[in-house]
Amino acid sequence: MTATTGQHARQDMQTVVTRTVGQAREHRAGLQGKVALVPTMGALHDGHTEHIRICRGLADHVLVSVFVNPTQFGPGEDFQKYPRSQEVDIKKCAQAGAAGVFTPSVDELYPPTKPGVDIEVPSLSADLEGQQRPGHFQGVCRVVAKLLNIFHPDFLSLGQKDYQQLRVIEAMLADLMMHVRVVEIPTVREPDGLAMSSRNRSLDAEQRQRALGLSKALRQARSLVEEEGETDPQAVEQAMCSVMQAHQIDVDYAVLRHPKTLGELTCVEPTLTGGVIALTAGRVGTVRLIDNMRLGGPAEK
Ligand code: PAF
Repeated sequence: MTATTGQHARQDMQTVVTRTVGQAREHRAGLQGKVALVPTMGALHDGHTEHIRICRGLADHVLVSVFVNPTQFGPGEDFQKYPRSQEVDIKKCAQAGAAGVFTPSVDELYPPTKPGVDIEVPSLSADLEGQQRPGHFQGVCRVVAKLLNIFHPDFLSLGQKDYQQLRVIEAMLADLMMHVRVVEIPTVREPDGLAMSSRNRSLDAEQRQRALGLSKALRQARSLVEEEGETDPQAVEQAMCSVMQAHQIDVDYAVLRHPKTLGELTCVEPTLTGGVIALTAGRVGTVRLIDNMRLGGPAEK
């Protein structure tokens, strides 16, 4: 497959690139059958192409949005430095069989003359990423709601890598009665365990090694809970923290939480509660990374 840029007229087996909301709506309106939306911030890697691959098995057409969303970055965060590779991204989407790629400008999605709207899920977004990045989830909810209103997809793919985001968006969809089926995509890892992330591009070789501390900490937690039967969450959290610190990671958090409510646990009961979620976040140099792993319980739905 190849990509057509500029005009959105679809040619045989080509990926249509749209840049305005009007073009995107018109392209969507012409698609028959089920549609899946894969929202991304670009700098696409194999994890993203896995979203497209899985969605192609579910829907007749897969649409990908590539938009570095400014409202989910706080002051002093890496919005300006966030990796961008739009032309390569469009090619990757085409190769993966996407029917369309939507690459709007900031003014297109956030018209400067219109008053803005906040969408918040306070019970799920105050803690963890929400605490480290105030306003982050409001920005995520706002852009995802916009994309859903533009495309009205049947399926919305979301990565388990951004675990809290997944739970927050699910809650938004349920409360606002937005009719779309969420497809959870398992985290894709490099052979050595590092979770794929667009931000990995910003790591140098030495930082790349140190970044392994996030996934190693999670594996340590899994071994303590599943093999050694550790039930004290604080003991597991302390062990995760030590692994990260041994890799010179500036730890934001290393915690065990309830997989649905993200609430704190008094006891780890993987078999009774259907599992717990271990979450890690920290900085390697100036690059902030997150990861997570389900411990015990059934596999992700
Ligand atoms: O997960 C991401 O890449 C972003 O948060 C999303 C969902 C595309 C919204 O900008």
